[in-house]
Amino acid sequence: MSMDNKISRRDALKRMGAAVVSGAVASSGLLSLASCEAKKSKRIIFYFTGTGNSLYIARQLAEENTELLSIPQMVKQGKYEFEADEIGIVYPIYGHMPPNMVRRFIQKANLKADYLFAVLTYGNRKCNAVEIWDEVSRQAGKRFDYIGTIIMVDNWLPNFDMNEQMKIDKHIPENLQKITADINGGQHWHEPVTEEERQQHQGFMQRSGLDPEVGFLIKSEKSFTVTDACIDCGICTYVCPRGNYELTSRGAKMSGDCEFCFACIQNCPQKAIQFRKSEDGSFPDGTEKNPNARYRNEHISLMDLKLANNQKL
Ligand SMILES: Cc1cc2nc3c(=O)[nH]c(=O)nc-3n(C[C@H](O)[C@H](O)[C@H](O)COP(=O)(O)O)c2cc1C
Ligand code: SF4
Ligand code: SF4
Repeated sequence: MSMDNKISRRDALKRMGAAVVSGAVASSGLLSLASCEAKKSKRIIFYFTGTGNSLYIARQLAEENTELLSIPQMVKQGKYEFEADEIGIVYPIYGHMPPNMVRRFIQKANLKADYLFAVLTYGNRKCNAVEIWDEVSRQAGKRFDYIGTIIMVDNWLPNFDMNEQMKIDKHIPENLQKITADINGGQHWHEPVTEEERQQHQGFMQRSGLDPEVGFLIKSEKSFTVTDACIDCGICTYVCPRGNYELTSRGAKMSGDCEFCFACIQNCPQKAIQFRKSEDGSFPDGTEKNPNARYRNEHISLMDLKLANNQKL
């Protein structure tokens, strides 16, 4: 044995001690458990989506220990009791308000968590959407610690051409990075709202005649019609979060209360679903910017939307 390999008895005992301690910790699993538990808190993220933007954002906010839950599926299964360290919700704003199903869900759900956050997706003008959610959720007995918004493609077909919308750079990665850092850092913050934005929302409510306690909830048979281009593919029957569509011997037919999420009209491969013109010109009057342009978020597949919204299976 060369002198280089010699170690003192004291050093040898020290090394043995270290090996014994680390061996004991490793075999008991204490080390791995301690380090995992330090960083892994359980997060639940609920989402509602018509064209995939909100599902995409929900996925981006998901961490290793996150459960992503579709609100239409929770409603279908009658599940309203949830517990986690952090609970979030991601939804598209409709007239600056939450979709009707999201509103009803938050009113009914019992959410036990130390931190509640909401991220609202929108396309052009958010107005006072943050304050509206704060009020709706407070009335439901919940106080959200964080409420922020993120601008995406605007899927509101009456005013926007989807082909044009998809060309606009809305700086989604940069905006998402800030929101992710805020939420992971447990920020308590509500995005500020201006007086002008509150006024704009009031103007919209007067023009639209929508009930502020309900938001968008319109009869689907009054809003849409199916043309002869329908090939009975059944996609509309799966992507509707209200289960409003049926296939009949004369093509697809819809009836029932409608969220106006546009999952059906945007995802019909034949563009066979069209807006029905309102007889008295009342809102929404049935006009649309470009009936030949349709949209689904580029990161979200048709199967993702079916799994999120399907009410039939
Ligand atoms: C019925 C309806 C109303 C909408 N109202 C607004 C609005 O008031 N302001 C806005 O900026 N975007 C509005 N949008 C656009 C959506 O909020 C936006 O495109 C959202 O990201 C769509 O999310 P999703 O793909 O998850 O369905 C509306 C869309 C629909 C279908
Ligand atoms: S998605 Fe379009 S083509 Fe397919 S069944 Fe529905 S209306 Fe017909
Ligand atoms: S009928 Fe169309 S717009 Fe209405 S809830 Fe169903 S998928 Fe959404």
